[in-house]
Amino acid sequence: MQKPNGRLVNQTCIFTGASSGIGKAVAMAMGMEGGNVVVNYHSGKKEAEELAHWINDNSDCGEAIVFKCDVSEEKEVKAMFKKTVSHFGTVDVCVANAGIQLDHPLHEMPLTDWKKVLDVNLTGQFLCARESIIEFKRRGFRKEVSKSLGKIIHMSSVHEVIPWAGHANYAASKGGLLMLMESICQEYGPEKIRCNSIAPGGIKTDINKDVWSSKEGAETMLKLIPYKRIGIPEDIGSVASWLASDESEYINGTTIFVDGGMTCYPGFTTNG
Ligand code: BGC
Repeated sequence: MQKPNGRLVNQTCIFTGASSGIGKAVAMAMGMEGGNVVVNYHSGKKEAEELAHWINDNSDCGEAIVFKCDVSEEKEVKAMFKKTVSHFGTVDVCVANAGIQLDHPLHEMPLTDWKKVLDVNLTGQFLCARESIIEFKRRGFRKEVSKSLGKIIHMSSVHEVIPWAGHANYAASKGGLLMLMESICQEYGPEKIRCNSIAPGGIKTDINKDVWSSKEGAETMLKLIPYKRIGIPEDIGSVASWLASDESEYINGTTIFVDGGMTCYPGFTTNG
């Protein structure tokens, strides 16, 4: 874990899908920067509570609370923001991270699974971004804590640009996120709201455990990574902490790929 340097002291950060994987690592890293943390979860109650305890027991961190909600449900997202504002006073950073994969060949894709992935991965991030912007504008500037009015970080994927056979619903949701993020940047940049995405590549989490946990799966994945290391959630945590802080103030409307070079199409190293 990186040494904390208090870059988010007196700020409150909401993390969706924070009970495991990338969301958990990002909440830990950003919590270590001294911010208050809202640990949102959908089904991992025990893990979310353990994370909140860890943050509350750590003297470098701010305070943590947990909040269960389905990010694709408007009422529940509104309730999460209401609770955050009543408990901590405001929201400074939202890391819209919750995401799912329901993979099928396209000709076998049930409409329900198409919709579910779009609902969580794209609509869920829209709802969180919208409520963040409403709260940033209501609260107004607090120049003593941040140069920006507020910061939104969308958790995207390399599949916002790399097509993915057998995962069209997931790739479409992440492609949509790119335009959502850039449109928010264009619309609210003038109000000093920063909106960016992080695009992880192959990172060891439960979502792709079936691939990296076997020797053959890991080898296949490594062929796609010029840096020849499968990522870990902490790789994303350190980037997110920086992206939420004023150190990256002039970064707006950008996707930061944290992928060991996966988007450089290593398949072309000896072909094409
Ligand atoms: C997906 C993973 C996949 C990675 C690289 C991520 O967005 O969730 O399952 O391993 O992209 O393809």
